[in-house]
Amino acid sequence: MKTPLLKLTGINKSFGPIDVLHDISLDVHAGEVLCLLGDNGAGKSTLIKILSGVHKPSSGLMELDNKPVSFEGPSEASEQGIATVHQFGGTFPLMSIGRSFFVGAEPTRRWGPFTIYDRARANGIAVKEMRELGITRIDDGDRLVGGLSGGERQALAIARAVHFGAKLLILDEPTAALGVKEAAHVLRIVLQARQKGIAVVFITHNVIHALTVGDHFAVLIRGAKAADFRKGEKSREEITDLMAGGEQMAELEAEIESYMVTGEGHPEPAKHAH
Ligand SMILES: Nc1ncnc2c1ncn2[C@@H]1O[C@H](COP(=O)(O)OP(=O)(O)O)[C@@H](O)[C@H]1O
Ligand SMILES: [Mg+2]
Repeated sequence: MKTPLLKLTGINKSFGPIDVLHDISLDVHAGEVLCLLGDNGAGKSTLIKILSGVHKPSSGLMELDNKPVSFEGPSEASEQGIATVHQFGGTFPLMSIGRSFFVGAEPTRRWGPFTIYDRARANGIAVKEMRELGITRIDDGDRLVGGLSGGERQALAIARAVHFGAKLLILDEPTAALGVKEAAHVLRIVLQARQKGIAVVFITHNVIHALTVGDHFAVLIRGAKAADFRKGEKSREEITDLMAGGEQMAELEAEIESYMVTGEGHPEPAKHAH
C-alpha cells in the first residue's frame, strides 16, 4: 500500500467545553476520492477546516507526504497544495470571473515603469480552464461571478485549484444546492480532478453522489468516525442506515410498528362530512 498524501491520527477538536471531533484517524490518497459522509452537525465541516488550516486540532497528528504538519492559517495550507471550496460558496459575487480566478495571484504585465494587472491574460486563462472542465457557456472573463449558476461557481473554484497545482482538493457539499444536471456536471469534474492524480475529499450527505464518485468512504456520527470502507464493500442501504445513525432508524421503525399494532397515536382516517 502506497503512503497516503494526507494522514490523520487521533485528531480531536473542542471549542471551549464543546467536543466536536473525537479521535479521528483517516488516510487520503493521491488520485482517489474520499467521501466524507454524515448527518448535519456530525462534524464534517469542522474536520475539513482542520485540513485547510482554518482551525487547529486540539490534539492529534496530521501528516502531509509523511511529514507532520501544522497550519497557522488557510494560506499555509494552500501553499502546501491544499485547495478548499467551503460550503456555501467562497467566491465573490461582485468580482469578475478572471479576477476571482486569480485572486491573490494576479498575472501582471509591465506598462512603462508600472506593473499592472493583466486583465486580458487573467480572463483568457480563466475561460480556458473552465472550458477544459466542460463549462462552455462562459466566453467572457469580465462577467461577474454572481451571474454564474451554482454548478458553474463550483467549476470555477475547481478549475482554479487545478490550475494552481492543488494536490488535495476539498469540496464541502458541492452538489447540495444543485439540480440533477448541474450536480452530474460537478461530479464529472470531480472525476476529472481525480484523473489528474489529485486527491479529493468530497463531502456530501447524498449517498448516490458519494457512490458515483467515491473510492473510499468515511462516515462521521456525532464527531466520531463510525465507519471507513472502500468502494463495493457496503450497499447503498447500509450506508444510508449508517448515516442516519442505524439505531435511531431501528428505533423509529419499532415505534411505527407499535402504532400499527395498538392503533395508539394513529389517527382515524378523516371522515368527510357531506
Ligand atoms: N466555532 C464553533 N464553535 C462551537 N461549536 C462549533 C463551531 N463550529 C462548529 N461547531 C459545532 O460542531 C458541530 C459540528 O458542526 P459541523 O462541523 O459544521 O457539522 P457538519 O458540517 O457535519 O454539518 C455542530 O454541533 C456545531 O454547532
Ligand atoms: Mg457542514
